[in-house]
Amino acid sequence: MSHHELGPEDRTRASSWRLLALLLALPLGAACGDNQDPAGAEALWQALQEVDYRSWPRAPGYEERRGSNAPHGDKVDIYINDVLAEALASGESLERWPNGSVIVKDGFDGGDLELVAAMEKRLTGWYWVEYAAGGEAIYSGSPETCTDCHKSGDDYVRAFELP
Ligand code: HEC
Repeated sequence: MSHHELGPEDRTRASSWRLLALLLALPLGAACGDNQDPAGAEALWQALQEVDYRSWPRAPGYEERRGSNAPHGDKVDIYINDVLAEALASGESLERWPNGSVIVKDGFDGGDLELVAAMEKRLTGWYWVEYAAGGEAIYSGSPETCTDCHKSGDDYVRAFELP
């Protein structure tokens, strides 16, 4: 908050203080992320651990860990669940990914797991979440940060194409 100079005493001083108090009262998360659904993010983290998503098939083109220019670490592993794997294997052409599709991406920095990002296709559309390596949600819900960059993808998926 060092960028706020309250300036010389004047008639606006009282309201400046009120504004400053309001800014300080904002939850910390608002400054460093957009965690719209902490409870849902936590539940999804638990579910992903229980199913052991790292045992899932890897996304097409991501048979091995590979380099990435996206803001998800310098190397990534990308896993897809059975709903998505079956949709890809079916040979049918699709306009969008089926409900129940889940994609999980482990992002590494210098060999260390840095973050885990996931997308789940729900009736309401994609649900987005990004966790720190320990599972604390940083983003969840439908943050514009995620959707703005992903909308250039095939139904929001950037790593591989719709069949
Ligand atoms: C500036 C662009 C950008 C932003 C912002 C971004 N992504 Fe991505 N994301 C990508 C690209 C590009 C890929 C393709 C794989 C790669 O290159 O690492 C990707 C891949 C993914 C994947 C694997 C499935 C896919 O779509 O390819 C997931 C899951 C993912 N991102 C989640 C998120 C979440 C959650 C957020 C928001 C917190 C987010 N991304 C924000 C660019 C972005």
